[in-house]
Amino acid sequence: MNAFEINGLSKVYENGNRALNDVSLTVPKGSFYALLGPNGAGKSTMINILADTVRPSSGTVSLLGHDLFNERNWCKRRMGVVPQEIAFDPFFTPREVLRFTSGLFGCKPDEAWLDELLDRLELTVHAGKKARQLSGGMRRRLLVAQALVHRPELVILDEPTAGVDVELRRKLWDFMRELNDAGTTILLTTHYLDEAEELCDHVAIIDHGALLTAQPMRALMRDIASSYLWLNYGQAVTLTDADHDALAGLEPRSSDEGVCLKLGRSENGDSTFHQTYQAAVARFGPPLDAGVRSEDLEDVFLRLTRRAGGDDAAAECKS
Ligand SMILES: Nc1ncnc2c1ncn2[C@@H]1O[C@H](COP(=O)(O)OP(=O)(O)OP(=O)(O)O)[C@@H](O)[C@H]1O
Ligand SMILES: [Mg+2]
Repeated sequence: MNAFEINGLSKVYENGNRALNDVSLTVPKGSFYALLGPNGAGKSTMINILADTVRPSSGTVSLLGHDLFNERNWCKRRMGVVPQEIAFDPFFTPREVLRFTSGLFGCKPDEAWLDELLDRLELTVHAGKKARQLSGGMRRRLLVAQALVHRPELVILDEPTAGVDVELRRKLWDFMRELNDAGTTILLTTHYLDEAEELCDHVAIIDHGALLTAQPMRALMRDIASSYLWLNYGQAVTLTDADHDALAGLEPRSSDEGVCLKLGRSENGDSTFHQTYQAAVARFGPPLDAGVRSEDLEDVFLRLTRRAGGDDAAAECKS
């Protein structure tokens, strides 16, 4: 059973902006799913369509096998959404916001659960303050608590940690991980790609409203991330045509301090580190220092979303 099956979703705003273009995506039940993309890619548009605050131009969405647009109430009860934009009545306290939201979902406030939410999101000491007295990070955490009052099976978070400090971000992710371990499906957007890589088991990348890839995180990193051998010669090495010929297939690039070569896998799956290192030494002599750098999700993301005229991020010889 899938949590979401999104098919052919498109959105053209009234002013002609095409924010989503025929996006199809399957979010497995129980997954911790990252929806990534640069600013303006269409992430919030997709989330707002799922949250029923934006109407799609075309496409279908099914949630746990139910049609999202025709069975709205059934679906809404099972979903908690944290929107990107923060909007609270400035005169309500966090506890009042949570009680009020429980009512909107047709449930009597579960005070023990609200206490736990306030506690897990480090809001207990602020529970009696008016919302307008809360800092940006506190409001963001209150939005997360608000989305969870009815213990939804599916949680959708649009940049839940924007403006949240490092320590509280870790606590928030720990809480999300616990919810996910207990079976809650989580779909989130974030610009913290290192956190997405650590937490999420699936990833979709969109840009200009189009889906670039959607797959399990491990498969994406296995199939797309590359590894590089960097060799430090203490100075830039100018690569000649003869060097390029001799090192063909290793995509040699010069850096400020030396040379960078792409590592591959031999036919039996072993790393080509040894051959690559030997080839470099044969050409340039022994280096002062050397190391391997594997691309992380951020590198892969930049490579996939690189805009025309952008740098060749994967080719950078960072050590
Ligand atoms: N209400 C609107 N009317 C017209 N165009 C809009 C509207 N909302 C968003 N857009 C446009 O749709 C595109 C996608 O915007 P969206 O907010 O979905 O991007 P995003 O991926 O969430 O970006 P960010 O990372 O900055 O939050 C952008 O070109 C944006 O300018
Ligand atoms: Mg957004």
